[in-house]
Amino acid sequence: MISGRTRIFGVIGDPVEHVMAPAINNAAFRKLGLDFLQVPFRVKKEDLGKAIEGMRALNIRGINVTIPHKVAVMPFLNELDPLAERIGAVNTIANDGGVLTGYNTDAPGFLQALLGEGIEPKGRNVVILGAGGASRAVSFILAERGSNVVILNRTLERAKELADVVSGALRKEIRALKLDRENLARELGGAHILVNTTSVGMSPNINETPVSADLLKSKLVVFDIVINPIKTRLLGEAEVAGAQTIRGVDMLVWQGVVAFEIWTGLKAPYELMKEEVVKALEEQSAVNGQHRSARL
Ligand code: ATR
Repeated sequence: MISGRTRIFGVIGDPVEHVMAPAINNAAFRKLGLDFLQVPFRVKKEDLGKAIEGMRALNIRGINVTIPHKVAVMPFLNELDPLAERIGAVNTIANDGGVLTGYNTDAPGFLQALLGEGIEPKGRNVVILGAGGASRAVSFILAERGSNVVILNRTLERAKELADVVSGALRKEIRALKLDRENLARELGGAHILVNTTSVGMSPNINETPVSADLLKSKLVVFDIVINPIKTRLLGEAEVAGAQTIRGVDMLVWQGVVAFEIWTGLKAPYELMKEEVVKALEEQSAVNGQHRSARL
C-alpha cells in the first residue's frame, strides 16, 4: 500500500521502457517489508539537470541512471564515490537530505559476479574484448583488483585510449591490441579469464561470437556481459569446451544488489532479485528485447 510515508525511488533513462530496476527493487522492497517504491522516469537529455534538481525538491531517496545519462549526470551531483569518479560514469544516486552522491555499481557488480562463482581475479591474466563504456568499468575494477589486463578491440585506437586512462589512474601497465584472430590466439594461450564487453552475439545477432570455438579451452573462465540472450553463442561454446562460464545476467543482479545495499543499508535478497532479473529478461525477450550489458 502506498501511503504518505512511502519513500520514492526512481530510474531515469531514455528510453526507459525496458529497464528492469523497478521490477527487481520493488520485489526486494516488498520482501524486506520496506515502505519503498521505485518508478521509471523518461528523462530527455536536455532535461537532465532539471530532473536531478527535481530529485532534490521531491526528496526522492535514490535513483538508478541508465543510458544516455550515466556520464552527463555527474556534474549535477554533490559528491562522487571515488570509483565512480575514476570510471567516469554513475549508475546509482543516493539522496541524503539533499546531498546527492553518485556511485558506479556496474564495476563492483562485475567483480561480485566473479567472486560469487569462486573466481578471484587478482594476479590472473585477463583478456578483455571491447573498449566501450562497459569495458571501462570492467577494465578499471580488474586492474584495481590486481589482474594483468590486456584489452583487445576492433578499433585499436579506442583500446589504446582506454588502456592509457586506466594505466594513468592506477599506475599499472595495461596492454592494448587489435581484436583479430592472431592476437586472440596468442593472448588466450596464457589467459585465465576472458571477458566479452563487445556487442557481438547480442540479440538479434545471436549466431555471432567474438571468439571462434577452437580458441576456447577448459582452463578458461569465460564471462560474457551480454544479457540478451541470457546464454550467448560464446557462453554455449565455452561450456562445450569445458570452460567455466559467467553470464551477463549475473553481473546485472549483483549491480542491483550493490545499489540496493547503498540505498537501504540492508542485505539485499540476492536469490529473489536474481529470479526477478531472469523473469524480466525472459518476458522482455519474448516481446522484442535488444539491449544488453549492465542496464538495470
Ligand atoms: P558499451 O557502452 O555497451 O560498451 P559501446 O561504447 O558502443 O557500448 O562499445 C561497443 C563495443 O563493442 C566496442 O568495443 C566496439 O568496438 P569498436 O570500438 O571497434 O566500435 C565493439 N563492437 C561492436 N560491434 C562489433 C563487431 N561487430 N566486432 C567487434 N567489435 C564490435
